[in-house]
Order: sequence, then structure tokens, then C-alpha cells
Amino acid sequence: MVRAFVLRGPEAAAALDWLHVHADLAGVEELDHALVVYTTAPLPPLPFPAVEVHEHAVDPALLRLTGLENDRPIHVADDLLVRPPWVPAPADFLGLDLVVPRGNAFGSGEHGSTRAALRCLHRWWGGIEAPPASCLDVGTGSGILALYAKARGTQGIAACDIDAPSVAAARELLPGARIVVGGPEQLPAADLVLANMTGSELTAVMPLLLARWTRRAALVLSGMRRAEVGPVTALVPEPPAWFETVDEFTAACFPGAAGWPPARRGHGAVR
Ligand SMILES: C[S@@+](CC[C@H](N)C(=O)[O-])C[C@H]1O[C@@H](n2cnc3c(N)ncnc32)[C@H](O)[C@@H]1O
Repeated sequence: MVRAFVLRGPEAAAALDWLHVHADLAGVEELDHALVVYTTAPLPPLPFPAVEVHEHAVDPALLRLTGLENDRPIHVADDLLVRPPWVPAPADFLGLDLVVPRGNAFGSGEHGSTRAALRCLHRWWGGIEAPPASCLDVGTGSGILALYAKARGTQGIAACDIDAPSVAAARELLPGARIVVGGPEQLPAADLVLANMTGSELTAVMPLLLARWTRRAALVLSGMRRAEVGPVTALVPEPPAWFETVDEFTAACFPGAAGWPPARRGHGAVR
């Protein structure tokens, strides 16, 4: 049976550190002025006299929660959906359905920077005749942006992330793609280049992005906060064709040598 103990007082955090070593904790909850520790055994006496300890009754319904109950399909555009595999697509949805397991990697589709990047990409893709031959996704996280390119027909997918668990998640999502731990210096040039990162990360990696972008297709940069949009986009030696902003995050699309709008503008399913 799981029991809950509330710890209060200035040494509560130190008591928690001590408990991590001396007790088998099933979970910890941080409240504004207290810590709640969950354990299946009685709490050992704490060597912190100033810490108040009270046992609380545990609601059995809480123990059945998995954390997945509130997951919903995310409508990035009318015809673009992102969802985890355990959430069904709406029965009447006919657009592009990106299924991304929500693991420990960034890129479930909920974050504004991901949605802004996808909206840019989706709009650009709606106006092109044929998919770009190659895509490089820098800071791929779960692999969600590269998955979009693959779903729309790009064959040569390469991606990187400095976070090894993200690379593992992206490799699982994109079998056959070349996905490496580290930065883009390890990867070849590509027609379509995508990067969703903070403004300072984009700034740092920009010379590598530009060196790898062939300009045969678009460059999409996302993750910029309002004050970062000007300075970051000014590093690209051509003006952005448009922006998408979701929550406080902006994505910019640079359409490359083909320019914008391309010949078949308006023929794609775009907003
Ligand atoms: C905001 S997440 C974007 C994830 C996913 N592409 C998306 O759009 O949801 C940024 C990712 O970039 C990675 N990252 C940051 N700096 C990087 C760098 N210099 N090279 C490669 N990856 C980097 C981070 O580890 C993180 O996974």
C-alpha cells in the first residue's frame, strides 16, 4: 500500500536528499511550501528535528493515473494532426496524421515552437511540385520535423541532436534515416534544412546550417522568441518569405533559390 508523508520546514529539501539514500521512495511531489514523499514502507525517523512530518491519506484513484489521460490529438492546421500512438485520430480527419510517441525527447507537437515550425513547413510544402530530395533536421528531438518531410515524400533524411536519448527516439521513429549524436558538422548538405532551437542555439549553429543548405528547397528556423527574430533571421543572407508564430515562438521560412510563391502556389492543402 502506498503511503504519503508531507514534509514541511526549512530543512525539508535536505531531509528529502537524506530519504533518497535511506528509504525506498515511490515518488515525490513538490508543493509550494511542502514536499510530499510516497513510499510503500513506514518513513524512517528523520535526523532533521525542524522538519514537520504528517502522514496524508492517499486517494486510491490517484494511484491509477498514468499521466497519459489528458493526451489529445493536436491540430497543427486543419489538415495536419499530431498525436501519440495511444490517442486515435478523429474519425472524420482526412489530412496528414503524424504519429509521434511522446517519450523523453522534445517534440510531441504540443510546444509552440514545434507547431510554428510544422506550420511553416506545411505551408511551404503546399506550394511545391515535388518533394525535396534531402532534408537535414538539426536538433531533431523526437524526430517530428523530419517525420513530416518523410511523410511528404522526402527520401534522404538526416538529423542530429546533442542529446543521446533524443537520437534514440528519433532513430526509432525514422528507421533508415541517418541520425547522429552531436551537431550538423557530421552531416552532409541537404536541400531542405530545419532547425527548431533557442535563439542563441540557432545563432551558434547558423554558420553550419548555412554551409549545409543547398538552397534548392527551404530553410525553416523555429524556436525564436519575439526579440530574437530580427537578430537571428538577419544572419541568413536572404529575407524570410514569411513567419508563423504559435504562443511566444516564431518560425521563419526562407524559400531558397526557387523563391516564393512557387509556380503551383495555392494547389496544396495549406492554410
Ligand atoms: C526545441 S527542441 C526541438 C525538437 C524538435 N525538432 C521539435 O521541433 O520539436 C531543440 C533540440 O535541439 C537540440 N540541440 C540544441 N543545440 C544543438 C546543437 N548545436 N546541435 C544539435 N542539436 C542541438 C536539443 O537537444 C533539443 O533536442
